Amino acid sequence: MTNINQLFAQKHAGEKLAMLTCYDYSSAQIINQSAVEMVLVGDSAAMVMHGETSTLPIDYCTMAQHVKAVAKGAPDKFIIGDLPFLSYRKSLHENMNAVEALMKAGAQAVKLEGVSGNESLIKHIVESGVPVMGHLGLTPQSVNQFGGFKVQGKTANAQQRIIKEAKTLEDLGCFSVVLECIPDALTQELVKHTSMITIGIGAGAAVDGQVLVMQDMLGYSSAFSPKFLRRYLNTEQLFLDAFNAYAKDVKAGHFPDQSEQY
Ligand code: KIV
Repeated sequence: MTNINQLFAQKHAGEKLAMLTCYDYSSAQIINQSAVEMVLVGDSAAMVMHGETSTLPIDYCTMAQHVKAVAKGAPDKFIIGDLPFLSYRKSLHENMNAVEALMKAGAQAVKLEGVSGNESLIKHIVESGVPVMGHLGLTPQSVNQFGGFKVQGKTANAQQRIIKEAKTLEDLGCFSVVLECIPDALTQELVKHTSMITIGIGAGAAVDGQVLVMQDMLGYSSAFSPKFLRRYLNTEQLFLDAFNAYAKDVKAGHFPDQSEQY
């Protein structure tokens, strides 16, 4: 099993870290055989697995089910469970129930978005023995405040704020931070001031590692095309071809053939 010490050893050796999102057992089994070190069971599951238009509707019990499936499929990887919208903005007791659910489902760390108002909770989680990954820049749980999924940190003020937030996360004991959709120049400046493991998505190349949503990098949908996305497969077309070939065989009476019958 990959552990937090190995991740820091890789960072200090200048070896880049690869992280993918995953929400299900079958995909996790394949990731487990790969060179990817970290698996994020992201609240993007709300959109990717459940067809929602934002990450807001998913709750921590559903997230825990996804974490459990991924932990069974990828026992060798470092698994991070995402704390969903508002699950860490209620009472400390309720927040810790969410952390407990994700950790007992098999996560080795939890991730949460933003800093302001989360300070005492982050400290409490860290002091409870749970590694915490922060998330700055485009934090999708704040999509309604941002007025859409937009690049963050464009003004000097916003850049100073994000650098300050990263410093606060580090002071609170976070081991890592995801930087989402911020200019490369800001990332370059930020990484100079932190010893956390920095993981980027649309944040340039200066980070310690990258994360992509698995379905995006596999090309499940040609409709989603942000600038930062590199597609490694055209799964949409591969699936379509396979589904149509299967339907054609069934309709023509070519499936099953003699060798496929008992
Ligand atoms: O939920 C998610 O998939 C994420 C990544 C995009 C970083 O938070």
